[in-house]
Amino acid sequence: MRKKLIAGNWKMNLNVSDTKVMLNELVKKDLNGEVEALICPPFTSLDAAGEILKGTDIKLGAQNVSEYEDGARTGEISTNMLKDLEVSYVIIGHSERRTYYGEDDEVVNAKIKRALSQGLKVILCVGEDEVQRSENKHEEIVEDQLKKGLADISENIENIVVAYEPIWAIGTGNTCSSEDAESMCKFIRKSISTIFNEEYSQSMRILYGGSVKPSNVKELMGNENIDGALVGGASLKADDFQSLVNFG
Ligand code: G3P
Repeated sequence: MRKKLIAGNWKMNLNVSDTKVMLNELVKKDLNGEVEALICPPFTSLDAAGEILKGTDIKLGAQNVSEYEDGARTGEISTNMLKDLEVSYVIIGHSERRTYYGEDDEVVNAKIKRALSQGLKVILCVGEDEVQRSENKHEEIVEDQLKKGLADISENIENIVVAYEPIWAIGTGNTCSSEDAESMCKFIRKSISTIFNEEYSQSMRILYGGSVKPSNVKELMGNENIDGALVGGASLKADDFQSLVNFG
């Protein structure tokens, strides 16, 4: 039985003061304990968020990490620094990082290896853009991202979660239909069984991301191969995040 995961990716939103307001409100709310809840604020808010989430069931995640150890890497954040702040998850390979910061599959692979070797859980993001979808290349693109992103990985594979985020559905209000999202998540599970093995593919969690909101989360979560959601805009308010976690 795969436990559902609702992960909020705040992206470059909410400074420390906003973080405190949002999370102090969220921790007072009743959340369905059957669902794992995760908040991934910007790096600058991790410390404050960790203090507020301490002692609750809400987990803390980061939106990126360096593939290198501590050292001369100006502007970067290491696994060591994240672990020191009680971060348990890290998002790797988000399409915004691939598109705006040139992160290719090789870098994504190095980051995943580094994070897994240090005991962090990884949310690997994959997904096609609008043109690739219109050319019917979405499966090919996603399979390639999975194969390259997960190449030569054998350590701590149980700590990998995959998030299918079609780029054309991110922040656009254009949610992928529930059928298409399920079909891609099923395809991802099949690809994972080839990359690793069938048994592991059945236990691995696959999330959908792209304009998930309180009004559509229930339908998406009703699919056999969708084990949760990676949510941007609708994770920024405590009420909305509560509704997402309590989708049932
Ligand atoms: O990582 C979450 C994401 O890219 C989806 O963003 O705002 O469409 O929920 P949003």
